[in-house]
Amino acid sequence: MAEATLIDGKAFAVTLRGKVAEGVAKLKADHGVTPGLAVVLVGEDPASQVYVRNKGKQTVEAGMESFEHKLPATTSQAELLALIDSLNKDDKVDGILCQLPVPDQIDGDTIINAIAPEKDVDGFHVINAGKLATGQQGLVPCTPLGCLLLLKDHLGPLSGKSAVVIGRSNIVGKPMAQLLLKESCTVTVAHSRTKDLPAVAREADILVAAVGRPEMVTGDWVKPGATVIDVGINRVDNPETGKTKLVGDVDFASAAQVAGAITPVPGGVGPMTIACLLRNTLEAACLRRGIPTDGIL
Ligand code: GUN
Repeated sequence: MAEATLIDGKAFAVTLRGKVAEGVAKLKADHGVTPGLAVVLVGEDPASQVYVRNKGKQTVEAGMESFEHKLPATTSQAELLALIDSLNKDDKVDGILCQLPVPDQIDGDTIINAIAPEKDVDGFHVINAGKLATGQQGLVPCTPLGCLLLLKDHLGPLSGKSAVVIGRSNIVGKPMAQLLLKESCTVTVAHSRTKDLPAVAREADILVAAVGRPEMVTGDWVKPGATVIDVGINRVDNPETGKTKLVGDVDFASAAQVAGAITPVPGGVGPMTIACLLRNTLEAACLRRGIPTDGIL
């Protein structure tokens, strides 16, 4: 079988960020509004620091305002809630994101649910999760939204396709399943307790791997011609160089021999997450003010 088509998330994300920048310019010109995104980072986790820096940079490149709040690892829950409260009330702030994970003394769910739902650009608040589950308009989590945009771009309408999502997290697996259901896929959510996971995965026209296990999904799990979306970002040792390298949840070399199309790691789903965050911030800036999104989004 020929090698799978590569789904270039990096290129798609550049295009999407360009569209967001156009929408931001139109919002400014027609309504005098500059969207603002506040990113809160508690502690000094190196990976989180890299994400937050990239988010800030790309926010400014899209023509939006970026507000960064870096708090020490010893911050109390009450202090963080006080900051969220002030951002909820700040009219220059359209989107609020608190980088996860937060330190142990802070309850992540309490913080997420303290963010005003109309500013919850991560789409993690129970109100937004409930809206997604019931088919109402709300803010949708960025990584699954990015996966869906790639799938629709590559496959066109998804109706009737069999989709298997491996992983049941609130951040990716569950919202991904909801989005695919909304597109009229037949959706299976598989996880660590699923019996005969390879056989379940082999039923999928669309296979989404979001488990956080390096190269777990191998070619023999893939139905010939299937579209494989790899959400994993795992840092592993590279014995050839003695350094670390990034790999997905899919064993790219074997899966690409069987799949019809596949996202690489890096350069697949990863770049789509921030692009969708910027899109959500633009959407929040419009919806919060009752500005119609057609012509802007
Ligand atoms: N940590 C890892 N991914 C994410 C994300 O999408 N949003 C937030 N807030 N934290 C994260």
